[in-house]
Amino acid sequence: MLNSEDKEKDLNLPTHIAIIMDGNGRWAKERNLKRTAGHEEGALRVRDITTHCNNLGIKYLTLYAFSTENWNRPKLEVEFLMKLLERYLKKELPIYLKNGVKFKAIGNLGRFSKSLQKVISATEEKTKNCSGLTQVLALNYGSRDEIVRAVQKLTVQNLEVSEENINKCLDTAFMPDVDLLIRTSGEVRLSNYLLWQNAYAEMFFINTYWPEFTPFLLDDVIHDYRHRERRFGGI
Ligand code: IPE
Ligand code: IPE
Ligand code: MG
Repeated sequence: MLNSEDKEKDLNLPTHIAIIMDGNGRWAKERNLKRTAGHEEGALRVRDITTHCNNLGIKYLTLYAFSTENWNRPKLEVEFLMKLLERYLKKELPIYLKNGVKFKAIGNLGRFSKSLQKVISATEEKTKNCSGLTQVLALNYGSRDEIVRAVQKLTVQNLEVSEENINKCLDTAFMPDVDLLIRTSGEVRLSNYLLWQNAYAEMFFINTYWPEFTPFLLDDVIHDYRHRERRFGGI
């Protein structure tokens, strides 16, 4: 496992890690459990991985928790995920504060219930002065939806169309582009996640379901990332 000595020696750690947390349903099915049990177990990994990233000194961790396409799931599963999210945020607040983790949400939050929207903004507000890791949950997030909303903002504010101004109007305006993208569960696709921000991300597709993803596996990925040569179009 990476330790704090590695952390200090190594200037090559990613600043921004993004994760597509996939495979909760399959993890549960393989154990003859309901899909919801996979989501419950997955929520526990969110805490483990967040704590680990914070200990490593990572600055931003963006987790794909609910996509604009996930409304297409059965109503009962969607309702379960909404309740889980609300429960998770309420339970997590003291842990965020204890560990100095700042919470932020990205996505089109207006489609959520008023009570969930309130919990999201209260958690953001209460953790806004935390100076450790920023944990970002992507909620009702779709990259195309985000880009459309950004272009609408540009138009309303009569701003010149430039990369800089588009960056400023995206939900992710407060953080740098993704350095390291991880998708669990073996699927090799982006599923509408951070399409603009992943332009030069190093990508890792892992054959492990999200409920089984551990800090050790994350360390392996970070180890490989540190040895990749990022050229950004140069030589
Ligand atoms: C990811 O796991 C969690 C969400 C998308 C909310 P899945 O629920 O997609 O699990 P699989 O892909 O069906 O196994
Ligand atoms: C992507 O996973 C969304 C989240 C992890 C929240 P999905 O399971 O929804 O993606 P697809 O449908 O397999 O592409
Ligand atoms: Mg999936």
